[in-house]
Amino acid sequence: MKRKVIFSSLLAGLVLLAGAILQPSTVQAANTFVGTATCAGCHDKEYSNFSKFAKKAHSDRSIKIMAKKLTPEEQKECYACHTTGYGQPGGFVSFEKTPDLAHAGCEVCHGPGSAHVDSGGKKDLIKGKGRMNVKECEKCHNSERVSNFRFKPMLFGGAH
Ligand code: HEC
Ligand code: HEC
Ligand code: HEC
Ligand code: HEC
Repeated sequence: MKRKVIFSSLLAGLVLLAGAILQPSTVQAANTFVGTATCAGCHDKEYSNFSKFAKKAHSDRSIKIMAKKLTPEEQKECYACHTTGYGQPGGFVSFEKTPDLAHAGCEVCHGPGSAHVDSGGKKDLIKGKGRMNVKECEKCHNSERVSNFRFKPMLFGGAH
């Protein structure tokens, strides 16, 4: 009887431990960036609006027009805001390796989409209604952070 209790609490402990170890990595592995074009097949209305009207759809151009004035290191500093998922699993690496993620795409706002896509569109696997927060826009739409960067385009102040 006693032994059984010890055994089952040991087992419970192991299960908890395994859960604690496995969970973060499975969550991460399950959710990576897939790129805006992957969303197009099922969300053609959003995709076509985005492609036509959002500046984000061409945010790589904003880096490229400045590129001559930037060192390679400075150019990397643009990636955090002007591309999708830079430095994160499945995210932007370079214009050559990951052209599909070279702009600030759907997943910049909705978060990485692979789990949602693989599930055929389960809505609780993507950040959607009621789960988006303006704070997340401020990661990029943040004048303080932009100027702290000695943000070169701002030197021109729109005058040139
Ligand atoms: C990963 C960074 C990032 C995040 C997060 C982000 N944005 Fe942006 N957004 C940009 C960049 C970069 C541009 C400018 C693109 C360009 O012109 O090169 C932009 C442009 C815009 C514009 C300009 C108008 C236009 O034509 O597109 C609006 C409005 C905007 N974003 C709204 C939002 C809102 C609302 C959120 C949060 C729900 C958000 N953004 C989150 C990076 C971001
Ligand atoms: C902290 C996030 C952030 C970083 C880092 C950043 N940008 Fe931006 N950038 C933005 C946002 C947000 C906008 C859109 C501002 C708006 O329309 O309100 C923008 C707009 C621009 C625009 C103007 C586009 C237009 O149509 O008016 C250019 C050009 C630009 N960025 C180039 C760069 C370059 C080059 C770098 C790297 C040196 C860089 N940005 C780094 C967030 C960032
Ligand atoms: C295989 C088709 C498919 C693909 C690919 C797909 N979605 Fe979806 N998505 C759906 C379906 C279906 C729904 C509606 C689910 C529902 O209402 O139960 C949905 C719903 C959503 C919602 C609303 C969630 C909510 O809370 O209401 C968002 C946001 C979304 N998708 C974003 C994306 C993004 C971003 C991508 C690309 C990374 C993408 N989807 C790719 C099928 C897809
Ligand atoms: C600037 C941030 C931003 C970008 C970029 C963005 N979305 Fe959204 N999206 C939102 C917001 C905000 C909502 C509304 C959430 C709510 O109702 O609380 C939304 C809602 C949605 C919905 C649910 C619409 C509905 O009526 O139920 C879908 C689907 C969706 N987005 C897909 C996409 C796809 C696909 C892309 C890229 C082509 C994209 N979004 C790009 C911010 C963004």
